[in-house]
Amino acid sequence: MQSSIISAPTPGCATGRTLSDALAGLARKFAADRAIVASTLAGVPESRPCPDHPDREQPLDREKMLANVRLGVSAAPSYGLCPVCAQDRVRQKRIAAWTRRGVPARLAEAALENYDENASEYAAASKQIVRAYIASASSRLGDNNSTLIQGGFLLLAGPQGTGKSHLAAAALRALRPHVSTVCEDVRYLTHADLVLGLRTTYGGKKAGGTAEYIEELRDAPALVVDEFGLSSGGADEAPAIQTILAARHDARRPTIIVSNETLPALHRALGYRVADRIAESCHVAVLLGESYRRR
Ligand SMILES: Nc1ncnc2c1ncn2[C@@H]1O[C@H](COP(=O)(O)OP(=O)(O)OP(=O)(O)O)[C@@H](O)[C@H]1O
Ligand SMILES: [Mg+2]
Ligand SMILES: [Zn+2]
Repeated sequence: MQSSIISAPTPGCATGRTLSDALAGLARKFAADRAIVASTLAGVPESRPCPDHPDREQPLDREKMLANVRLGVSAAPSYGLCPVCAQDRVRQKRIAAWTRRGVPARLAEAALENYDENASEYAAASKQIVRAYIASASSRLGDNNSTLIQGGFLLLAGPQGTGKSHLAAAALRALRPHVSTVCEDVRYLTHADLVLGLRTTYGGKKAGGTAEYIEELRDAPALVVDEFGLSSGGADEAPAIQTILAARHDARRPTIIVSNETLPALHRALGYRVADRIAESCHVAVLLGESYRRR
């Protein structure tokens, strides 16, 4: 009786045998797949010239071939990207990540490093102000446990083409690693985009749409509002924008305002109450001089 108990298949053993059978089957299948890849590869060159960059080579991609064979897609030799194409792919992904955050595509690679400080007599000083702003906005208040960012506002004002949007995008790029999380990312939008976005929430299609939109911009870990003051200036927008900006100021969330307006006009556009509050913590760079676009 004892031996029959020992040899009797228990449910656990039955499952174990099935599992080990399945694993062995899988191993046989993987070996067969590898053999298919190996036979396909006989006499196949390790690399081939890139059609777009004939002086560069595309390496044979064994992993991709194996994956294709496993999925039953194809057993044909598969080649990866040449180094230039691979670099370009990374760059395109980076540009797409910034345009998703609202940064104009032409500024998706704008950085302090490619901002020419000899462009005008104001460029070097402005770059310095933006650098100081980034340093203060990315430092944290209090002890190590504090999550409060020493944020505040940056105002970039001046005429067309002087590099304001470039510096705003550069600042956002520099701040992002300090302030963003997986769920909450930085935002870049124009004043007109903001008003348009606000208006699309009207009409009650989405419950709480307007409040949600305001909260989203209020809470973005860093925000650029470009072309400030150029919007049509409907009566509905001022309270929403003032709510967003006043709350961002109080929570010290990094906020960058870019404008062609003169400072008094900007005060009017912001509303004196908000302008007054912002003034206490604002870094201001006024860029004058010739347009960089006319070079
Ligand atoms: N100092 C600079 N160094 C390098 N590129 C610059 C500089 N200034 C401006 N540019 C480039 O010139 C173009 C125009 O600059 P930008 O868009 O920042 O101007 P702007 O001040 O925002 O003008 P607008 O008020 O018309 O929006 C951009 O492609 C920008 O990258
Ligand atoms: Mg601009
Ligand atoms: Zn290539």
